[in-house]
Amino acid sequence: MNKYLKTDHWKIIEEGFNKENVTSSESIFSIGNGRMGQRANFEEDYTGETLQGSYIAGVYYPDKTRVGWWKNGYPEYFAKVLNATNWIGLRLVFNGEILDLNNVIVSDFRRELNMYTGLLLRSFTAELQSGSSVSVETERFLSIVDDNIGVIKYSIKSVDYTGNISIASYVDGDVKNEDSNYNEKFWDKVSESALENESIVTVRTKKTGFVVTTGARVEVWKNGEKLTLNFDSSIKEKYAENKTLVAVLPGDEIVIYKFAANISSFNHSESDLVNVTKAELDKAQSKHYNKMFDEHSQAWAKKWEESDITIEGDVAAQQGIRFNIFQLNQTYTGEDERLNIGPKGFTGEKYGGTTYWDTEAYCLPFFLATAEPKVSKQLLIYRYKQLDKAIENATKLGFSNGAALFPMVTANGEECHNEWEITFEEIHRNGAIAFAVYNYIRHTGDKEYLVDYGLELLIAISRFWSQRITYSQQIDKYVMLGVTGPNEYENNIDNNWYTNTIACWCMEYTMEAIEYVKTKEPGKYDVLSGKISFNESEEQARWRGIVENMHFPENKELGIFLQQDNYMNKEQILVKDLPQSQRPINQHWSWDRILRSCFIKQADTLQGIYLFEHKYDIDTIRRNFEFYESRTVHESSLSPCVHVVLAAKIDDMQKAYDLYLRTSRLDIDDYNNEVAEGLHITSMAGTWMSVVQGFGGMRVIDNKLYLSPKLPDMWKSYSFTIRFRGSVLKVTASKQNVTIMNKTNVELPVIIFGKSEIVEAKGFLTVKM
Ligand code: BGC
Repeated sequence: MNKYLKTDHWKIIEEGFNKENVTSSESIFSIGNGRMGQRANFEEDYTGETLQGSYIAGVYYPDKTRVGWWKNGYPEYFAKVLNATNWIGLRLVFNGEILDLNNVIVSDFRRELNMYTGLLLRSFTAELQSGSSVSVETERFLSIVDDNIGVIKYSIKSVDYTGNISIASYVDGDVKNEDSNYNEKFWDKVSESALENESIVTVRTKKTGFVVTTGARVEVWKNGEKLTLNFDSSIKEKYAENKTLVAVLPGDEIVIYKFAANISSFNHSESDLVNVTKAELDKAQSKHYNKMFDEHSQAWAKKWEESDITIEGDVAAQQGIRFNIFQLNQTYTGEDERLNIGPKGFTGEKYGGTTYWDTEAYCLPFFLATAEPKVSKQLLIYRYKQLDKAIENATKLGFSNGAALFPMVTANGEECHNEWEITFEEIHRNGAIAFAVYNYIRHTGDKEYLVDYGLELLIAISRFWSQRITYSQQIDKYVMLGVTGPNEYENNIDNNWYTNTIACWCMEYTMEAIEYVKTKEPGKYDVLSGKISFNESEEQARWRGIVENMHFPENKELGIFLQQDNYMNKEQILVKDLPQSQRPINQHWSWDRILRSCFIKQADTLQGIYLFEHKYDIDTIRRNFEFYESRTVHESSLSPCVHVVLAAKIDDMQKAYDLYLRTSRLDIDDYNNEVAEGLHITSMAGTWMSVVQGFGGMRVIDNKLYLSPKLPDMWKSYSFTIRFRGSVLKVTASKQNVTIMNKTNVELPVIIFGKSEIVEAKGFLTVKM
């Protein structure tokens, strides 16, 4: 844990310069706009420890797999999110001395991320080696209105410096990924140009052939007047710069505006890239800083109106949830069905930055409730479009008849994860992808989705389960052997309760979906059936047989579902008895010791109870919660949120609150000492679930919206906004009342604390807490 940031309702604030915190702050203060992202690297040179990161959505590199022991079925590559051309660079030289915070005396350092407006600010005073000082103030944003454009305003005020400042604005494509498997650079040169105040660099990824053009234009103003300057412009391989000189006296203020655009062949033909870049730069320069920023901040205000959560009486909790919502909205906008949400978003290299089950299991509920349905639909279409690859993937592993296994990690539908116990065994991801179809339809009511896309995917996944599950003569039951559940702290287990549960649910739901499509759209059903050679009666008979006779491990004495067969053979130690000095166990214990222990990395059996809560009575939920919470070390960021939802359900509000704080401030307070690598973007959606589903009790059952808010003791009140079937409701819970305000013209029935009510169009409803 590293708590060095100030608490505030809307801002993340760092005060004082501590070199140790630079890489952590680079992650925490990252900005993005769905199309690209940028770590909070300094614009000026910095020779201290830093992780440079500029990322462009959809552009990845297939880094050749590196494993100790190759296993058949491993993919050839791991797709990496790419550190792309550095567009922020400004080299500032004061009478021969390069401004570098590693080499000067820094005072009054302050960094601020204004989450309300999406603006990153920084200020400091630097005492140069020459003894004179300058004060610097910077502002930077990535426009969410013009999402190819990034803007920097960099002001330098001379305190007592007299002399020239050499200003070089540059674009540098000679960058590398720190996580490169073979220490290679991933970009090849295409072209460079530098003319007057404009620099343009085009580079191409090796193997994947993505071409990215990055252009920048610089303007220099002095004491409020734009200067007409001569630029000394130059290029070298993958690099272009525009350099100029300004004379400064004490009290003078120089403002540098840098407008940059990143345009890629992901969206444009290669031959157009430079022209599109120039046109974007024209647009940015003619709107200029203030207009660009006004439009950007207004768009952010709108996003906040739709997705904000307020918490009264607890600033740390308030800041935590807003940080999570901010980062989610920075990472994914739903503009492009080819894009997805990497576990680190645009804030670091780890995890490859591509797609995991995290999207469906954690992120989808957030986007369903806070954005128009088309946004979450894009996430589903992404998987639908990769169905052929998922079928190919399953075929490679020996499955047949159109069975699909979606990848554990992917950039384009191909599996690129390469640890056998995860790649081949963590197959529960297929369940999350099927559940997302159900979740989307139950939330939006868009059953057409089932007809046009959903059913085909569901059948392919059910085909996979029906082949992966086998019959055990010994126990006269169907079993699923050799899997890894969400709990990665044990592998190759038999009958993981969660995986068995979601597999059977999936086959049942597929059969329901078949009935629906067959009845509503018989013509379309026949076409699909022909396309995939579906032997309806035979295949469904097998699915039904499995569903009716599947083995689910349980311990009747304790009244709990069992994580897996023989889980109780493990030595049963509780987390509370683990010395603090041994935690997190993944940093202190050998892997072998972890695998043999009873400790659970993340919600697993409880993940199943969370998804299918309506099937279990409250005592069953409580017994399982108490048993597993005491054995769960929450060493995945995805874990605490599920426990919050269930803890609130069983009225263990203290536990719910403690776990909520952990999930919501995971990165701000760096609970796991790893924030420097990037933020936990996907688990941030889990934090949202903790408030809305946990404390707010929001559920969707049988087409109806349920709410049953509970208030943590620490809070005076809280509110959240949810979109459901055309209505947008703002729900506010205080110690006395719950008020539901309908912001739309569409009235909505809701079930609040178990009682049916109607929230009139544009009306509101108040009930007692
Ligand atoms: C978790 C996985 C998750 C991955 C990416 C791992 O630590 O165990 O469930 O998909 O991180 O977030």
